[in-house]
Amino acid sequence: MHVKSTIQAILASAALALLTGVAQAEIVIKFSHVVAENTPKGQGALKFKKLAEERLPGKVKVEVYPNSQLFGDGKEMEALLLGDVQLIAPSLSKFDRYTNQIQVFDLPFLFNDIAAIHRFQNGPTGQAILKSMTKKGLIGLGYWDNGMKQLSAKKPLKMPEDAKGLKFRIQASDILEAQFKAVGAIPQKLAFSEVYSALETGVVDGAENPWSNAYSQKFYEVQPYFTESNHGYLGYMLVANNKFWEDLPADVRPVLEKILAEVTAEVNKSATAFSEGDRQKIKDSGKTQILQLTPEQRAAWQTAMKPVLDQFTPKIGKDIVDAAMAANKP
Ligand code: LMR
Repeated sequence: MHVKSTIQAILASAALALLTGVAQAEIVIKFSHVVAENTPKGQGALKFKKLAEERLPGKVKVEVYPNSQLFGDGKEMEALLLGDVQLIAPSLSKFDRYTNQIQVFDLPFLFNDIAAIHRFQNGPTGQAILKSMTKKGLIGLGYWDNGMKQLSAKKPLKMPEDAKGLKFRIQASDILEAQFKAVGAIPQKLAFSEVYSALETGVVDGAENPWSNAYSQKFYEVQPYFTESNHGYLGYMLVANNKFWEDLPADVRPVLEKILAEVTAEVNKSATAFSEGDRQKIKDSGKTQILQLTPEQRAAWQTAMKPVLDQFTPKIGKDIVDAAMAANKP
């Protein structure tokens, strides 16, 4: 009797160990992105790792892969759907294949400033866009800023005519393609990891980037002129594989969601500081000139690019574009 109960006890504890062992198997979250670590997104990914591992010790491990190390543009979304990576934060310009709604963020001169963008992102339309790709297997978990984009080129760009005939590197977005065509330029879709050498070797003549990418990728070393155009927004959607996210244990997902909310707030605060600081560092480098536009010159760019808005509004959805415009009013 005694032996039997001992054996039973051993078996029971072995079963328990096995069960708890299974329940406690560490969840590995691979977070892949294409930018440098000294950028808003790079820092956000590291902060997420730190907080997740601090608050979920033994339960969650986060591996961050910056600089297109693991997957570059064009591959990271597929990798997410295949489960080869669990978290990515592509720029909002890189979702063309999954939803038209998100293209609203690419429309030139749509938002007055970052505060308007935040109002739109945090409002009902912005929040609905996060959930708009679940049927395709993607769930949006939040928006992260980088900053407003600036034009750069091998020659000074003051009026839209100055861009005529120049080749510009763009992200994989049809709106950005139309935007450069509208000023008579020749857009070329290229992965982020290829931009520096494309600018250096003259495969393209110009680009559009927020200050932090221009600084961290050293684009200012191979672009003699920047124009402070603030003509569009570069931000990110943090996305997970919907099934992976839904299947996370009940004691893990809410903790990660809370962490993401904290990290998002921090990234968005730091993004402004990155923009200002990196702009200054580029200026101080003496390797490029930063040109300002007069209100008239800026208006000329806006007018030249306006047809893009009219062309793409029906595709994106008039309600979405209207909601974005309404966010310009505080
Ligand atoms: C780009 O391709 O220019 C950007 O989307 C890169 C990034 O992630 O900021």
